[in-house]
Amino acid sequence: MRRVESQNALNGTVRVPGDKSASHRALMLSALAAGESTIEGLSPGLDVSATSHIMVQLGAVRRDETGTVHITGPTSGLRASSQALQCGNSGTTIRLVSGIVSSIEGVHRLEGDASLSRRPMDRVAVPLNLMGSSVTGEGPRITAPLEIHGTSGLRGIEYQVANPSAQVKSAILLAGLSANSITTVHEAVRTRTTTEDMLRQAGVSVVSTDMAAGRSVVLTPGRPRPQVWRVPTDPSQAAFFCVLGLIHARADIEVLDVEDSPERIGFVHVLSRMGADITTSQAASGVTLHARSSQLHCTELHSSEIPSVDEAPILTVAAAAAHGVSAFRDMGELRLKESDRFEGSMALARLLGCRVWSEGDDFYVEGVGGAQHFAPFAINAGLDHRIVMSSAVAGTAGRGCDIDGADTVSSSYPGFFDDLASLR
Ligand code: S3P
Repeated sequence: MRRVESQNALNGTVRVPGDKSASHRALMLSALAAGESTIEGLSPGLDVSATSHIMVQLGAVRRDETGTVHITGPTSGLRASSQALQCGNSGTTIRLVSGIVSSIEGVHRLEGDASLSRRPMDRVAVPLNLMGSSVTGEGPRITAPLEIHGTSGLRGIEYQVANPSAQVKSAILLAGLSANSITTVHEAVRTRTTTEDMLRQAGVSVVSTDMAAGRSVVLTPGRPRPQVWRVPTDPSQAAFFCVLGLIHARADIEVLDVEDSPERIGFVHVLSRMGADITTSQAASGVTLHARSSQLHCTELHSSEIPSVDEAPILTVAAAAAHGVSAFRDMGELRLKESDRFEGSMALARLLGCRVWSEGDDFYVEGVGGAQHFAPFAINAGLDHRIVMSSAVAGTAGRGCDIDGADTVSSSYPGFFDDLASLR
């Protein structure tokens, strides 16, 4: 159990860790390339370490220098490991590695922790099996442990992703690298472009066309080339400190050098609409976000504004501190994250003293009109790093909290509580 005390005033600057999405992909594309790549700013989280271990198990070589990681991909390509591939808590690891090993001859076993083993893998199994892989798991939703029979004879497919997901899109594109024809992925909502951008940087032909709210991505098979990767900092982690700066009664917080692609930075627009005093200024890499104490008012927010809905739990805390009823629309995907964040976000708002209710995939939060009115609370974070950080923000701005399972924060942000303490 970790105690989080309420604070009188918060002031300072934070640099959040390297983006988890870009970190996973930097390791994977480096391992797939023939020769040595360099990665600067890799996320220190356990999720990314899981990916790193797996790349080494498959034949890549890792060498660390201060602040820099060198990955050498074998010229002859990755090969199957006789040991199970441990994906830990990380959905990105298991889904993207499924795509990679689908094209590696042999049998691959992918395992996860209790949280990951509850999450549906049918969303990657179905397209990968269409490409000629054989992905099997437990039950109708194909949960981990997964057994994958990889083949060097994958076929390119044209595939419409049912529930827009960067992980599913990426798994298909990574498998498509060694398919015998082009692969096309259609998504109805534009999700983060990390995979496409980094593949392009590594010399692979990826053509994206935006249409209406969605996007089509066409990948021509090819091998990534070794690169120097500079990982930007993680906007979804920056969101915690922005909301803290806004809902705390006496706060002034700057978050440095945040990646600001349209699919990642939607939370800033949502907060601005809520009346937040949040400014963005161009920085050397990305933007600096500056958040100052604000009286927030309610808003209506659709999942497509924050694709992948990573920021929904912390925006729930913002809504809890606002005046009026906020509506969170089309949030069904939240149920399939590290924990059921649909129920978890509502439960957190309820603990803070809000009236909360749901209708189908929408939920509503009636704010208490300021974090000073939050109730003190105790919560079990249920192996979910974002529930830990959202709770810690609410407790710091409000009247304190106790978090059971706070260590789970290490999956993405081991230094979170130190960075939080540095603002006192
Ligand atoms: C991620 C995709 C997202 C997100 C996760 C990271 C990625 O999930 O929740 O934190 O790196 O591709 P979706 O697959 O639902 O978009």
